[in-house]
Amino acid sequence: MEYWGGTLGYRSMKCSARVRSLRGSATLAVTARAKALRAAGRDVIGFGAGEPDFDTPGFVKTAASESLAAGHTKYAPTPGSPDLRTAIADRMRTHNRIECGPEHVVVTVGAKHAAFEVMQCLVDPGDEVVVVTPAWLSYRPMIELAGGVVVECPAAIRDGFKIEPAALEAAMSDRTVAVILNSPCNPTGVCYTPDELAGLARVIASHPTATLVSDEIYEDLTYPEMAGGVGPFSPGSLPELRERTVTLNGLSKSMAMTGWRIGWAVAPGDDGAIAKAMTRLQSQMTSGIATFLMPAACEAIRRQPETSGPMRIVFAERARLVADLLDGIARFDTVPPSGAFYAFPDVSRCFGLTSPGGRMIDSAGSFAEALLEEKEVAVVPGDDFGDVARNHIRLSFACSEDQIRAGVGRIREWVDALA
Ligand SMILES: Cc1ncc(COP(=O)(O)O)c(C=O)c1O
Repeated sequence: MEYWGGTLGYRSMKCSARVRSLRGSATLAVTARAKALRAAGRDVIGFGAGEPDFDTPGFVKTAASESLAAGHTKYAPTPGSPDLRTAIADRMRTHNRIECGPEHVVVTVGAKHAAFEVMQCLVDPGDEVVVVTPAWLSYRPMIELAGGVVVECPAAIRDGFKIEPAALEAAMSDRTVAVILNSPCNPTGVCYTPDELAGLARVIASHPTATLVSDEIYEDLTYPEMAGGVGPFSPGSLPELRERTVTLNGLSKSMAMTGWRIGWAVAPGDDGAIAKAMTRLQSQMTSGIATFLMPAACEAIRRQPETSGPMRIVFAERARLVADLLDGIARFDTVPPSGAFYAFPDVSRCFGLTSPGGRMIDSAGSFAEALLEEKEVAVVPGDDFGDVARNHIRLSFACSEDQIRAGVGRIREWVDALA
């Protein structure tokens, strides 16, 4: 029998092997460390958190209060209320051009839980899931918890953090059950063009056992005004993949509603077979999101452009600012972000050098740790985003322009002083 061991204080309780080998989220760890330093009076600038610094719109809060007052406090249907599933399906049809109906929608506790459930529903032990990396660090544990094998398809910085169809073809096999794409991408900030996505879609379509999982949580945060920038595009709208795409989305990023925990999956293929499977699974897990949030979520979806439009403009300006400032750090290599709110510079030219505080920098982890201790700037080391991401750090620019200027200014000063 395996036990927790001493660090958590429990000596007699068993912890499953599955969970013992699970790593906690590095981004949440950095955010917590930055918060602790701030609480101790240190002037920390945080580039760690993956959440907009905007408040949830007042009309959504009002809708939630009214819904609560109206007594929407009992159990609701597991995949979401008919109104909410209809609102989501309508949006996915008109905005994303995905042919679907309410019966193909499952509302989940954030997009994270949608991704988790999809992996549980698609993956059997030994099945392979191709993940284009650098990738959001939660995909790997989700796949592995389902017994699957992660096959990384690396998109290196020299290729603009994008893969070609041939690379995807090489990563796929007859054991591939899913391919995960995330455009705009966390952590690179890169977006694929519709043509590029169509090329990748053709490869997936030629493998009859593979499903595309398209994580579009940042779809409203694209910056066509940046070099290489394009608007959003849903590969699930392509006829060859309609039957075999699960599209993930939610309100966390585009509506500044990270704490509300509202996401969804849309899976029209096979008569909604995956949506039905997810609903069955969810009925044994969370039973769904809080009932009184459902009318508020409808309101958020109905009035989404009012919020995400202006927010997008602010983020586009920040993307430009971050790209310009990072360009001024000679030891960094960066692809300008054209979506989401992340930049992902390669910092490997700092390796082998010593910091002003006497620390040896030999990895993204030691870089991030020394930067936080010596300059009070929090960034996330790239390691957990995939093998190809090890030499990188992630900066989230979900903070004010003043903070961006001050924070990147500190980074530059510190990097220039490495010797
Ligand atoms: C790529 C990606 N997908 C999904 C999520 C999860 O979003 P939610 O907060 O709605 O669970 C995140 C959050 O950081 C993300 O970056």
